Amino acid sequence: MIIAIDGPAASGKSTVARALARRIGAHYLDTGAMYRAVALAALQRGVPLADEHAVATLAGTLSIEFIHADDSPIPTAVLLDNADITTAIRTPAVDDAVSAVARMPEVRAAMVAQQRRIAAEANAIVLEGRDIGTVVFPHAEVKVFLTASAGERARRRHAEMTGRGHSVDEDTVRSGLQRRDHADSSREAAPLTAAEDAVMLDTTGLSVTEVVDAVAALVERVTP
Ligand code: DC
Repeated sequence: MIIAIDGPAASGKSTVARALARRIGAHYLDTGAMYRAVALAALQRGVPLADEHAVATLAGTLSIEFIHADDSPIPTAVLLDNADITTAIRTPAVDDAVSAVARMPEVRAAMVAQQRRIAAEANAIVLEGRDIGTVVFPHAEVKVFLTASAGERARRRHAEMTGRGHSVDEDTVRSGLQRRDHADSSREAAPLTAAEDAVMLDTTGLSVTEVVDAVAALVERVTP
């Protein structure tokens, strides 16, 4: 079973997708981490983000692996060519670079192929991203599009970043999110948009449990 969770940055996708995967015993794939890995590799190796051909060539050579300790359904680490990049892909520098990489059709084709391969190995999997219900798995059994107000999303992402030790102010976080959402929504290749048959869920003011309950109910409806 494929459960697709899409939505803008900081709409609650990761938290909800992880909790849901744990609850129903499904695998979990954070597709954003893959685009972040490509952006990080480009930054580390000095590949100019404006050079689409060079970035796409780089993306085609990278090994991105999700490590599951003790058979946990939730990966405990992300490796890029065997180096642990779990925290390195969550820096403001990667936040700023990732949309430029994610808009490149060749990079997307390489990532989507990997996402489909990973999903094919799982019995049930929760994938979170921007194009899961529209492009990667248009026939997913469950499709959810999470949203939240701009203020709530900025608050959540700010708390997350300060928790990780990055000192940024909330206004900067909010404008960064707006820039990224605009870039992700207006690009030509697989833009951020809700699938016509996705269930829209506004998570503003809802607890994680309330959102997970709502998605789990959708899963139950299609479970034989
Ligand atoms: O979910 P996230 O913030 O970690 O995603 C990082 C970037 O990757 C974001 O700018 C959108 C992009 N992305 C995408 O284009 N397609 C996906 N399936 C997942 C993420």
